[in-house]
Amino acid sequence: MKRAFITGITGQDGSYLAELLLEKGYDVHGLVRRASTLNRSRIDHLHDNPHLTLHYGDLTDGVSLVNLIHKIEPHEVYNLGAQSHVKVSFEMPEYTASTDAVGTLRLLEAIRAAGIDCRFYQASTSEMFGATPPPQSERSAFYPRSPYGAAKLYSHWVTVNYREAYDLFAVSGILFNHESPRRGESFVTRKITLGVAAIKLGVQERLELGNLDAIRDWGYAPEYVEGMWRMLQRDEPDDYVLATGVGTSVREFCAAAFTHVGLDWEEHVSHDSRYERPTEVDALIGDASKAESLLGWKAQTMPSELAALMVDADLEKMARLIER
Ligand code: NAP
Ligand code: GDD
Repeated sequence: MKRAFITGITGQDGSYLAELLLEKGYDVHGLVRRASTLNRSRIDHLHDNPHLTLHYGDLTDGVSLVNLIHKIEPHEVYNLGAQSHVKVSFEMPEYTASTDAVGTLRLLEAIRAAGIDCRFYQASTSEMFGATPPPQSERSAFYPRSPYGAAKLYSHWVTVNYREAYDLFAVSGILFNHESPRRGESFVTRKITLGVAAIKLGVQERLELGNLDAIRDWGYAPEYVEGMWRMLQRDEPDDYVLATGVGTSVREFCAAAFTHVGLDWEEHVSHDSRYERPTEVDALIGDASKAESLLGWKAQTMPSELAALMVDADLEKMARLIER
């Protein structure tokens, strides 16, 4: 039985990846952080699965990573753990660098020192392209625009370096934005779909947003974790972009979400500069043709469908809460 170790298993992607790997017959081990309240709502439904084991640890704590890699001896490691919020990275740049940059190095060193035969996936991001205009592919220049983007760029390059220096099967998946009903509530798509549900059900009046002009390439998270797994099943390690290839502005996503429930977004949305960033990434639109030809991976869910499915999920969840 193959063993996989996932950092960030309690996050959006980690929870979908854990489901996928359990379905494929893996023994799944996940890294969880200690918190004063339980932070496992996305993986609660997997709690009784005998092939899932959770371990306390932290990407900022190298000793925990060394011990876990020795104990688990994983065949595949998926490094999804990160302080993943771009705006927060301006407020906590040092912590973001420790987790998102040095954390990757700590994990790679733990694998290298253990001398085990293990494949490594790094959760890289379209934020590394930053100011480089779209379409962005594996061949585009990097120009990060936040402490988050800069930290992730370090991790991308150190992953490439460990592949070249130590012959480690290490891949960097450069993923464009991907969302779902499990998306963190402070990312813009989920903030919008939660706001739409609350306004529709009469428990909120207005939704405050920052920059409406930014363009993102929003796909559906469960499809993207399948792409991660496929990257580790190839004969040779490489780097791949995953994206839909469709650019949508925050304004357009917002309009689609409100229209889905018969509301006019302009009557409910106001601007709040607190949600703007010191430097913005204006437009991310990915070219995933390499993933399509080498991994057979293609995004199926387009941004307009995504807005509708997320609004429906939030409406259902909120209606149930109100009923109680
Ligand atoms: P997410 O929902 O924010 O999940 C982040 C995960 O990282 C959580 O499990 C979190 O644990 C964990 N974590 C945070 N700090 C940690 C630390 N110091 N040590 C160990 N674990 C830590 O993120 P996501 O959307 O699933 O994204 C997964 C990965 O892909 C991230 O690395 C993200 O940067 C990257 N990425 C995401 C996208 C996207 O659009 N979603 C696109 C490109 C790349 P807690 O639950 O305890 O907070
Ligand atoms: N979060 C947020 N909140 N963003 C807002 C808001 C708001 O109220 N109003 C406008 N935006 C704009 C942001 O300025 C940004 O241009 C865009 O909406 C998307 O913001 P987020 O949803 O926070 O995502 P992100 O693109 O910055 O980062 C996400 O995608 C990256 C991949 O490109 C995260 O998941 C990163 O971890 C990931 O690497």
